[in-house]
Amino acid sequence: MLQELMTVVDQKQLAPKIFEMRLTGDLVKEMHIPGQFLHILVPQADLLLRRPISIAEIVPERNECSIIYRIEGAGTEKLSLLKGGDSLDVMGPLGNGFSLETVEKGQTAYIIGGGIGVPPLYELSKQLVKKGVEVKHIFGFATKDVIFYEKEFSKLGDIHLATDDGSKGKHGHVGHLLDTLQEKPDVVYACGSRGLLMAVENRYENQNAFLSLEARMACGMGACYACVCPKKSDPTGQASFKVCDEGPVFKVGEVVL
Ligand code: FES
Repeated sequence: MLQELMTVVDQKQLAPKIFEMRLTGDLVKEMHIPGQFLHILVPQADLLLRRPISIAEIVPERNECSIIYRIEGAGTEKLSLLKGGDSLDVMGPLGNGFSLETVEKGQTAYIIGGGIGVPPLYELSKQLVKKGVEVKHIFGFATKDVIFYEKEFSKLGDIHLATDDGSKGKHGHVGHLLDTLQEKPDVVYACGSRGLLMAVENRYENQNAFLSLEARMACGMGACYACVCPKKSDPTGQASFKVCDEGPVFKVGEVVL
């Protein structure tokens, strides 16, 4: 993990309140594992806490990475105003990402995401395809207006969509979409709301499945315990994981969702 003043290459709006920012800097050389995140200091004096934002893509040949985030408050709003050439104080890459070790060439991976949980799945999908794994994307969004990267994911493998309001794809939750798929994937990766992760856990319990959790974070590096979640293996409920450095990716069944 390093800290650096990275440079914004450019930024564009993908959908209402959803932005993609490309960054360049030496930190990119440290980025290899999909599902890790950057801890970003918003350049505004009264915003002291860093924002954890997952890495959406790593492009080593251009020494660039990208993040995709949604405006949720003053910090992300400020980020959305940055332009090419601006600097950004970034720590990272942080956290344990998705393991590609448990899947082999020729096998099938389900990549399941919801809303703003989808971005880290892009680098994951790219790396899986590079390894020769067949990927299937199963994504849920609130409405068709907030869908992003459909074309990019389609280039890597099939994409199945659901929207809460039925404006595109299947009407309803990702869980409903999963019910329509019959095959048994060799590995499952998921990132999204707790509801989505619970649907995935119920369906793929005891299987080769990985869940990426969201948590409120402060230090982002295991020092403050702001991000804990209980371990399923401890019946007393006392033992916990720190999502920031023991996660954000966990094997299905490891954490209490
Ligand atoms: Fe501080 Fe995880 S955010 S321990």
